[in-house]
Amino acid sequence: MNRLANKVAVITGGNSGIGFAMAKLFVTEGAHVLIVGRRQAAVNAAVAELGDQALGLTGDLADPATHDRVTSLVADRFGGLDIYVANAGVNTIARSGLVTPDEYDAQFATNTRSVFFGVQKIASQLRDGGAILLTSSIASSKVFDGHAVYAGSKAAIEAFARSWALEFKERSIRVNVISPGPVDTPILSKMGIAASDRPAFENAVAEKIPLGRLGRAEELAHTALFLVSDESSFVTGISLNVDGGMSLA
Ligand SMILES: NC(=O)c1ccc[n+]([C@@H]2O[C@H](COP(=O)([O-])OP(=O)(O)OC[C@H]3O[C@@H](n4cnc5c(N)ncnc54)[C@H](OP(=O)(O)O)[C@@H]3O)[C@@H](O)[C@H]2O)c1
Repeated sequence: MNRLANKVAVITGGNSGIGFAMAKLFVTEGAHVLIVGRRQAAVNAAVAELGDQALGLTGDLADPATHDRVTSLVADRFGGLDIYVANAGVNTIARSGLVTPDEYDAQFATNTRSVFFGVQKIASQLRDGGAILLTSSIASSKVFDGHAVYAGSKAAIEAFARSWALEFKERSIRVNVISPGPVDTPILSKMGIAASDRPAFENAVAEKIPLGRLGRAEELAHTALFLVSDESSFVTGISLNVDGGMSLA
C-alpha cells in the first residue's frame, strides 16, 4: 500500500483491460491517475469506478492534438507528472499481402506514433526522478501469424524506449517496457474473436504457454507497479516479458 503516495500518473488506454487494471492498482497505491481513452462512455464508467483519485480525458491518441490536451490538463490540474504509461494499442490481424496502406498507417498511428508524440509532449511535465512505461508485446520478437504490422509497430516502441532511457538520464527519469503475452482483455474480441469461439481460442493459446493459461490484466498491473515505483529504482531501458514463458516455447 502507498507505494505511489503523492504521485501523479497518466495511463493511456486506462479505461479498459490492462490499462484499467493498472489504474485501479495505482489508485490503491495512493496515486492520482489521469486515464485517456477513445470512448467517452467507457472513460466515464472507468473514472466512476476508480473514484475521487481519478480523472478522465477522451480523445484519439493517434491525433497529436490529443497529447497537447493531456499535457495541458496535467499542467493545470497537477502542476507536473511522475509517471507516464503509454499503454493504448490496437491489434489488427492480417497477412502482409492483404494489408492496405490505410490499415498500416492506422495501426502505426495508434501503437507507435502516439507513443512517440505522447512522450515528446508530456516530457515538459515529467518531474525529475519520474518513470515512463510503454506497453509492447512479445509479438515484437516472437512471430505470430498475421501479426507483421503489429509486431513492427511494437518493436519500434521498444527501440524508442532504449533511446529515451539515455535521453532522459540527466533527469533521472527511467524508461522501461512491459511485453505481455496473451492476456484476457477486451482486445481479444476487438481482434474479431467471437465470444462463442473464445473457449477454443483460449485452450489453443494456453497449450503454447508454459504456465498453461492466459495472463490476467492484474498480473500486468503488478509488473507495471514494480517498474514505475521506487522498487525498480535501478532499472532502466529494459523490456520485461510477462507471458507465462510463451516467448521461450
Ligand atoms: N491483451 C493481450 O493479449 C495483449 C498482448 C500483448 C500486448 N498487449 C498490449 O497491451 C495494451 C493494452 O491492451 P489491452 O489488452 O488492455 O486491450 P484493450 O482492453 O482493448 O485496451 C486498449 C485500450 O487502448 C485504448 N485505445 C486504443 N486505440 C486508441 C486510440 N486511438 N486513442 C485512444 N485510446 C485508444 C482503448 O480505448 P477504447 O476502449 O476507448 O477504444 C483501450 O482503453 C495494448 O498496447 C496491446 O497492444 C495486449
